[in-house]
Amino acid sequence: MQRGKFLTVEGTEGVGKSTNLIYIRDWLNLRGIEVVVSREPGGTPLAEEIRGLLLAKRNESVDETAELLLIFAARAQHLQQVIQPALARGAWVLCDRFTDATYAYQGGGRGLNAVTIAQLETLVQGDLRPDLTFILDIDVELGLNRARERGELDRFESETITFFERVRSAYRARAAAAPAQYAVINAGQTLVKVQADLDKVLGDFWSIV
Ligand code: TMP
Repeated sequence: MQRGKFLTVEGTEGVGKSTNLIYIRDWLNLRGIEVVVSREPGGTPLAEEIRGLLLAKRNESVDETAELLLIFAARAQHLQQVIQPALARGAWVLCDRFTDATYAYQGGGRGLNAVTIAQLETLVQGDLRPDLTFILDIDVELGLNRARERGELDRFESETITFFERVRSAYRARAAAAPAQYAVINAGQTLVKVQADLDKVLGDFWSIV
């Protein structure tokens, strides 16, 4: 049994991840692929509880290392319960965020050392990395305005524009450093154009798997 492929979708707030995840899932389903769609932080009952802890706004300021460890605790549980079993049985996994978000938000946004993140990545994931990561890239203010339209902001969404500029830069730097593993999609275009770009990337990936 061939191991399934692991695809992730990333971006700052309000880039349209949910709509495009459905598009990617349907594209693969049409080609006969079983796709397990999940998200981070979350994806299992315990990891969803940790997500609740992370996203809740609170009076107590949250220590950056505590935040980082909670994210990797949720990730360990998600990998063990959902991602690894699915890949092992040949299903593909399509995840709304993964460790690139940690490099972008905790590394770029909060300023934590990338070496520390890499150590936890190895501890929790071994050598498992996504096969392909879509980075939906948009002007930070435009995205935040879209996110605000969805309702009350969570603890991350309430961060400053400069925080999200750092997150966006970190995503772009990761893509630039390993272009074969990333597809940066201009999410500021119309949905039709975004999805035409997704078609192209998926078609190229499909031709080599
Ligand atoms: P979302 O599901 O709306 O994207 O919310 C998840 C939030 O969690 C988002 O603001 C980014 C944040 N996050 C991190 O800071 N680090 C991570 O590693 C992950 C997966 C998410």
